[in-house]
Amino acid sequence: MRKQIAAANWKMNLNADEAHQLLTKILHTKLALKPGQEIIFAVPFPYISMAVKKCAEHNNVFVAAQNCSDKTSGAYTGETSAIMLQSVGVQYVIIGHSERREYFNETNEVLAKKIDQCLSHGLKPLFCCGEPLSIREEGKEKEFVAEQLKQSLYHLTADQLQQIVIAYEPIWAIGTGKTATTQQAQDMHAFIRQQIELKYGHHIAQTISILYGGSVKAANAKDLFSQPDVDGGLVGGASLNAEEFITIIQSLD
Ligand code: G3P
Repeated sequence: MRKQIAAANWKMNLNADEAHQLLTKILHTKLALKPGQEIIFAVPFPYISMAVKKCAEHNNVFVAAQNCSDKTSGAYTGETSAIMLQSVGVQYVIIGHSERREYFNETNEVLAKKIDQCLSHGLKPLFCCGEPLSIREEGKEKEFVAEQLKQSLYHLTADQLQQIVIAYEPIWAIGTGKTATTQQAQDMHAFIRQQIELKYGHHIAQTISILYGGSVKAANAKDLFSQPDVDGGLVGGASLNAEEFITIIQSLD
């Protein structure tokens, strides 16, 4: 059975007190997760230990980092390694978020190395893919995303790929309030799953979780998550509001 996941990407938001209060408010709610459902909180580095401690008190609630280095260790001032993250109890790492690709020039090749670092140190990559508006307007979104998958994931063995969660995040929907339609989301998720099947076979394609990200809100989560190839969401802005994110969690099907 494919995992159904509600993942919060807090990005670079909240101070320590706000982070603690938000996590406490969400975790104190009776979330009644069903078998196969998970919650992931991708918190800024300074709050990881606090989040790991609080999430460890709950079943199927995990912590992600929002990035990690493509290097193992060494003279890389300011970087954080997969080894460090694993040593403080992180389970997932967001790799290849469009904001990191844009602002920090992260290429598909560098992301492949980051994924290798995660897998080498027991961390599950949450690999982000998705097209910019210009590509969507040209109708070339499928070729674009297929290339992202090929360059960053297809060096992996089948066993390694089973550790991956994919997030399809059309860049034109991130932070814009302009959500992909349920049909657009389903079409791209089905395409991604088909690409995985062509490379790795039917079983792996049917077991890998593919999340949608890009203006997921309490109001649209149920429709999005009801799509056959949408296995939950990677949520930005709405995850900073306890009530909104609780509703999104409860929209998992
Ligand atoms: O990683 C999820 C994020 O990029 C989506 O942001 O604010 O559109 O939900 P938002």
